[in-house]
Amino acid sequence: MMQKTRPMPIEEGLENGLSILREGYLYVSNRHKIYHSDAVKTRVLGQEAILLGGEEAAALFYDEEKFKREGAAPEPAVATLLGAGGVQQLDDEAHRHRKKLFLDLMSKERIEIWAKMVEKYLYKATKEWMTKDSINFYEESQKVLTRAACEWCGIPLKEKEVDKRTAQLISMIESPVAVSTRHIEGRIGRKKGEKWISGLIAEVREGKLHPAEETALYQMSWHRELDGELLDLKTAAVELLNVVRPSVAIALYFAFTALTLQQHPEEKAKLTGDNPYYLHMFIQEIRRYYPFFPFNGAITRKDFVWNGYQFEKDTLAIFDFYGTNHDPRVWENPEQFKPERFSDWHNSPTDQVQYKLLAQGGGSYSAGHRCPGEWNTVRAMEIVTDFLINKIDYTVPEQDVGFSLVNMPTTPKSGMVFEQIMYKG
Ligand code: HEM
Repeated sequence: MMQKTRPMPIEEGLENGLSILREGYLYVSNRHKIYHSDAVKTRVLGQEAILLGGEEAAALFYDEEKFKREGAAPEPAVATLLGAGGVQQLDDEAHRHRKKLFLDLMSKERIEIWAKMVEKYLYKATKEWMTKDSINFYEESQKVLTRAACEWCGIPLKEKEVDKRTAQLISMIESPVAVSTRHIEGRIGRKKGEKWISGLIAEVREGKLHPAEETALYQMSWHRELDGELLDLKTAAVELLNVVRPSVAIALYFAFTALTLQQHPEEKAKLTGDNPYYLHMFIQEIRRYYPFFPFNGAITRKDFVWNGYQFEKDTLAIFDFYGTNHDPRVWENPEQFKPERFSDWHNSPTDQVQYKLLAQGGGSYSAGHRCPGEWNTVRAMEIVTDFLINKIDYTVPEQDVGFSLVNMPTTPKSGMVFEQIMYKG
């Protein structure tokens, strides 16, 4: 039976990519508000694209019969953030096989080891912070997480390398939609980062380096594709960076955690002491409330009708993560920071399929493209929250902690400067 269709609203203009740069995180939801629709046609990066957002559209975006990822990521993101040939750009069997490689790294035991490493490096860094007049907490968190991520992955990291590697990893994260020099730095950071990591993988394969079997360095070095072949060196490096790089990106959430504790002293009071369920709700709310990963792309595999709108095969769809996390149909008073809204939330991240909290993607944790690093992220945030409240004292001097919704990704402008840092008790 033919489904009845209605015309999809169209944003005028031959190229609206500049509006993305101008409006940042709000670009997609602004279009949905203007046209009163969860699907709006536009043109970006020289092609037609459909802007999607909201819980119902999320279920559509993650329907793998209708959408594929191959060819969806724009070149500037591949050249900086993602690298070529990684899991994000695979579909079907090849994707499931590669995704399992990541999921197998995330056992409960290994995630606890990760949490302990994050805590260890926070303590170590504090010793140095205590000798300084002030620190920039965002920048310091990057180094803490680089150290923890390299150790967790089995990557040897010399003390004198820490600043250089941290800068390379952060340049990949901060640059995909940046303009001018920051973007170029991201391209260089990716090239140098891949060279560093592929060199280590080559050493493992040559028997010169012996990481433990449960580490990502070992697993990426010896992973076999469906055809039985080892990954080529470059792809293996891209995948190992797919663990190290986002682990360091958690620094953005560390900065937002510090900002929240500063701006909401009542939260600090609720979190003081041992209050694991409140801590869990608090972290879910940070992941929902603050901007991080703005949107993602996929390409239609066939013609179909959704909500009365005709979708044609081979069309780019851009799905709005940030807008869905702030959609009033899903979240009551979305602009209010309110951890209690998660009081009846299942113990996310779980394998439960969900399309509401899209900080790290939605759908199924194990099957689809949803981020396999959610547990690592949540555990690291639990550690840092407890650390900032229960383990150290510090003062926060007057500074500009505002964050832009235009820069993607974004952080508090000052980076969160702390003074007078010392251990508690
Ligand atoms: C810093 C916090 C993080 C955020 C905001 C984040 C966000 C995301 C998002 C939005 C996606 C895409 C979901 C989709 O396409 O549907 C994703 C995918 C992915 N993330 Fe994360 N992530 C974070 C941390 C991590 C960590 C710590 C790891 C690894 C230890 C990780 C590894 C990955 C990988 C490998 C993918 C690709 C999955 C696939 O395509 O199948 N992420 N992440």
